[in-house]
Amino acid sequence: MSEWLKKIKEVSLEQIPTTEPERQYYFMDLLKGWMEEQVAEKGRKLTYHIQTFGCQMNSKDSEKLAGILETIGYVETDTEKADFVLYNTCTVRENANTRVYGRIGYLGTMKKKNPDMKIAMCGCMMQEAHVVEKIKKSYRFVDIVFGTHNIFKLAELLYEDILRGKMVVDVWEGTEQIVEDLPSEHKYKFKAGVNIMYGCNNFCSYCIVPYVRGRERSRKPEDIIAEVKKLASEGIVEIMLLGQNVNSYGKTLENPISFAELLKMVEEVEGIKRIRFMTSHPKDLSDELIETMKNSKKICTHLHLPMQSGSTKVLKEMNRKYTKEEYLLLVDKIKTAMPEVSLTTDIIVGFPGETEEDFLETIDVVRKAGFDSAYTFIYSKRTGTVAAKMENQVPEEVVKDRFNRLLEEIRITSEACANRYTGKTMEVLVEEENEQGEGRLTGRLSNNLLVHFNGGKELIGKLVPVNLKECKGFYYIGELIL
Ligand code: 5AD
Ligand code: SF4
Repeated sequence: MSEWLKKIKEVSLEQIPTTEPERQYYFMDLLKGWMEEQVAEKGRKLTYHIQTFGCQMNSKDSEKLAGILETIGYVETDTEKADFVLYNTCTVRENANTRVYGRIGYLGTMKKKNPDMKIAMCGCMMQEAHVVEKIKKSYRFVDIVFGTHNIFKLAELLYEDILRGKMVVDVWEGTEQIVEDLPSEHKYKFKAGVNIMYGCNNFCSYCIVPYVRGRERSRKPEDIIAEVKKLASEGIVEIMLLGQNVNSYGKTLENPISFAELLKMVEEVEGIKRIRFMTSHPKDLSDELIETMKNSKKICTHLHLPMQSGSTKVLKEMNRKYTKEEYLLLVDKIKTAMPEVSLTTDIIVGFPGETEEDFLETIDVVRKAGFDSAYTFIYSKRTGTVAAKMENQVPEEVVKDRFNRLLEEIRITSEACANRYTGKTMEVLVEEENEQGEGRLTGRLSNNLLVHFNGGKELIGKLVPVNLKECKGFYYIGELIL
């Protein structure tokens, strides 16, 4: 038995803190000792690789996982040829699940070559009982399975796994707990996401998120501001406030505040130059928010406003709580207040019972609303949701045909939208050197469009003026103005 394990077995339960995050720091410290032993044995540091599926929430969770692993002493590697591979999964659509199963199989073959390798599965898929059953049955080589509510527990779970040497499964059904102040690794040095709330209470009838992410919980504004200030002090200039439905932020707090009020507080933080947020539900988007965006110098001129369908009948079936007309009125109100705003959306095609007429209503909204871009999805039946029980599922070939027609419509409108900035000089936040290599940079406009231009990589993380020479649909070719 290793010296470390011997020592660990002597740890009495009383020594382990019961409050968070102290408890997790305690396990991270213990694991540092384990890591030292591993490094001595293997003659190198252990590596980790996190594969993230799905949305920005998951990306943010992965940063937290990375923070914990780096504290223990793991170093990141960009392939699955690592000592510890974690899959942070998504289950919003069925194809996401299929992809994950395929890849776990592949990890199994890698583990045969490296029996010390550790594999963890976490995130939204793990919140579904049938997924966990399948892993327990068919993928015995997985070491740790945990869900969305206990991401913060990674160190403790790894510790248990090392101690017990068999699969550790810890999936919570829900939680009231928000564990703050754990380490977090930022993918970028200049921009970062900040969770402002967790979960969702909307129960759109097609959506599995409320079942796997739990009820809506807002973080206290003072905690959010403290995190933003800390990020600003570390050089972060762009903040993305994250929540499934940011427009209902703060309603259930002991001292309720609105999302617009929170935005004003974030705006006051020195050093922060850009503020973004995701995602807005149309039913909760207030006039106060529009006013706040309009009067702000820091809030980006971009609004992601998922419409899902243009048919009032389908919207009702989806439990979206707005009509086609209300959606269009809202778009009109936003564009009147902020003519420069870039509007993007999510659309689902093939929801149960969607007729050709319903679909044409969606096309009609696309033509009228003038979206800069749209994320389009083929309806995917998610077990446990209300829509999964609906009859009238639309035949696959009909859905495919509608999907292609929708894509074409969006291509036309988004091209026209993007082109409106050609010739202008706008501020760009430089993000990275692009794949064309040295001297070629990619940056982002406030409205979220990308711009490629010539410049040195010392500009990464800086805001610079760029003349937008040519529009290529989803991006611009520009010229740096010195
Ligand atoms: N099928 C297809 N698309 C879905 N979305 C959510 N659930 C489903 C589903 N069951 C889409 C919605 C949402 C986006 C994140 O994913 O458009 O806004
Ligand atoms: Fe899903 Fe609707 Fe909640 Fe968005 S608002 S996460 S689509 S239930």
